[in-house]
Amino acid sequence: MKSALSFLALQVLLNQANGTPLLARDRDYDSDHGCRVKYVVVLSIDGLHNSDVDKWLALGPSNISTLLETGYRYTDAYTTGPSDSFPGTLSAWTGANPKTTGVWYDDTYDRTYFAPIVYDESIDYNSTQLFSGGINPANLPQTLINGKCTAVYPHARTRVNTAFEVVVRKGLKTAYTDKHPAYDLVRGPSGKGLSTGYFPEIAATDGKVPGTIAYDQLHVNALLDWFDGKDVANAEGSLGGKLPTLSGGNFQAVSVAQKTHGYVNGTLAFTDALKQAMTFVDASLGALVEKLKAKDIYDQTLIVIASKHGQAPIDPAKFKDINPKNVTAATGVKVAFQTSDDIALIFLANQKDLHVAVAGLTARKADLKISDIIYGQRLIDLHFGDPTKDPAVPDIIIVPQAGIIYTTSKSKIAEHGGLSDDDRHIAVFMSNPHLKKMAFGQRVYATQVAPTILGALGLNANELDGVRAERTEALPGFHNGRN
Ligand SMILES: *[C@@H]1O[C@H](CO)[C@@H](O)[C@H](O)[C@H]1NC(C)=O
Ligand SMILES: *[C@@H]1O[C@H](CO)[C@@H](O)[C@H](O)[C@H]1NC(C)=O
Ligand SMILES: *[C@@H]1O[C@H](CO)[C@@H](O)[C@H](O)[C@H]1NC(C)=O
Ligand SMILES: *[C@@H]1O[C@H](CO)[C@@H](O)[C@H](O)[C@H]1NC(C)=O
Repeated sequence: MKSALSFLALQVLLNQANGTPLLARDRDYDSDHGCRVKYVVVLSIDGLHNSDVDKWLALGPSNISTLLETGYRYTDAYTTGPSDSFPGTLSAWTGANPKTTGVWYDDTYDRTYFAPIVYDESIDYNSTQLFSGGINPANLPQTLINGKCTAVYPHARTRVNTAFEVVVRKGLKTAYTDKHPAYDLVRGPSGKGLSTGYFPEIAATDGKVPGTIAYDQLHVNALLDWFDGKDVANAEGSLGGKLPTLSGGNFQAVSVAQKTHGYVNGTLAFTDALKQAMTFVDASLGALVEKLKAKDIYDQTLIVIASKHGQAPIDPAKFKDINPKNVTAATGVKVAFQTSDDIALIFLANQKDLHVAVAGLTARKADLKISDIIYGQRLIDLHFGDPTKDPAVPDIIIVPQAGIIYTTSKSKIAEHGGLSDDDRHIAVFMSNPHLKKMAFGQRVYATQVAPTILGALGLNANELDGVRAERTEALPGFHNGRN
């Protein structure tokens, strides 16, 4: 173990020195335990920051602290920018950023489509019902495919394949649960990545913390059933009596608690609502561990926690809302589409208007609390892509000052989707009884989760288009699998 430790310590030092992600191998785990697991479960605790893990651990022993006793923690992990749920989710399942996936936000735009792309509860048959009937194709955005107007399901919107597709193609089982039927997204372009998907509609709940905890419990129950090899009522597809090789899901309660109650002004400690959400999530992880132990597969399972996104601002004193219409108006030109949260993505009706729009926004920079206006060559230099070549890339990205949210909602004090540290510095850790407790302090990205999970299953992460396109490497301590 000593040599493995010093090898890793060296990787950390090297990595901090040159700032590039590299491939670290824990040789101890490799040789002694075959570096293989049979099962991987990836859970997003939506909204959970790296700093929240510290705050939770400081409150005393917990299931999370137990998981970390035999776990790797990545303390400088960043999700995608933009950091909305869809790009955040895809990062862990494809290994790629929005530039590569083409998925920029939950509600977004594409210059080759006939209407904005909104992938949320609004595409369900009936979003007031928990089991909403799934996606109504009549509500989907349309584009021309082979000269024919075609409804585009979320999964078909993704330009690269997902880890679920890689696993299913080996004849193995997959299962996933998330907050809307629109998470059909993770099935990937083939539409076939999930053996089973369970998508109760969160919009049918009351949006409060206890209601969201009750909702999240459905996801937990589904995971527990899946590890019994059982199918879940109201789910799509079937496991055929097998256990899921690759499974995943999300918790929403922390995110809702952050948006409605957040952190204590001044100390930035958890409010009671946030503590309640964390207590629930922690106990749910405990229940999952109990189930894996009862099935005698705990040591064959890698549990991965990777939040899709953080939430901003953490400090409630920084929060201020601004009407997004004022941002649109400031461009002084016709805007085809704008998506607004703690970021604004602007698609112009006419790309020739770019310099007029930028001048208008620049003139209002102070009163709209804009910190940066990214457009033109800087979009390319910062790896967002080129809006003149890629129809999914916005013409202008507005980065507001810390704590500013472009919203008309009067019920929230935090949001996600933006580029700030509070949006992007997420909780990432993984646990397996064979891992030696370790913390990695170098900068890593949520995209690195995808090659990590395939490598841990003994599969080849290079089967992921996004991993090849972005040369995404597994998280330190893991590798991309066999070639
Ligand atoms: C862990 O989770 C279980 C539920 O499975 C819960 O009863 C317990 O309070 C949690 N906390 C600790 C410290 O184990
Ligand atoms: C949707 O479901 C609600 C609650 O069950 C019902 O009242 C409403 O009529 C339904 N709407 C449609 C369009 O079916
Ligand atoms: C937070 O505390 C500061 C300083 O005491 C105060 O000015 C501000 O109004 C408070 N903000 C909130 C959201 O409570
Ligand atoms: C936004 O526009 C409204 C009028 O549409 C105006 O009353 C308000 O002051 C503006 N706010 C900012 C921050 O520009």
